[in-house]
Amino acid sequence: MTMKKLGFAGVMIVALVGLSLATQAQVKKGKTRPLTTKQMMAGLVKPQCAGLGEALKAAPSDDKAWEELATKAALLNESGYSLMDDGRCPDGVWASACKNLQTASAAVLAKIEAKDYAGAQAEFKGVTASCGECHKAHKK
Ligand code: HEC
Repeated sequence: MTMKKLGFAGVMIVALVGLSLATQAQVKKGKTRPLTTKQMMAGLVKPQCAGLGEALKAAPSDDKAWEELATKAALLNESGYSLMDDGRCPDGVWASACKNLQTASAAVLAKIEAKDYAGAQAEFKGVTASCGECHKAHKK
């Protein structure tokens, strides 16, 4: 069937379907790189976030434990930027959640570097809030 026969409505439907597929593809995976959002969540974001939450249940006992916490917070911070890369971001909700993930994880990291256990625990709440912010809109 030609576009002429489809008429204007047909062209619009084709355009809208194309657009919604493109949006879907961005949420699930970036435009050029192979890592899917699901893989990034399962392999990077979740393990670092769960590890940080688990470790913050008790005050770190030595320098090595603080160092491990810093690594997790820094990787979470990096994920806040990776989630914005490669055309993955579909809208303002996504962008805002990423900004909050970046800011909150940087705040946790600053407290860890100052060896402020209570401060790190408090700032960690901002990290988990950013997960929920994005998931509410984009995790199907
Ligand atoms: C900017 C958006 C965004 C942010 C921020 C975000 N996520 Fe996700 N997350 C998603 C999307 C989208 C999916 C669904 C991916 C899919 O199934 O294609 C997902 C899926 C997941 C999954 C399921 C993975 C699987 O194997 O099916 C886990 C676990 C997860 N996220 C953890 C987290 C945690 C923990 C945080 C916060 C530290 C977080 N996410 C922050 C967008 C986000």
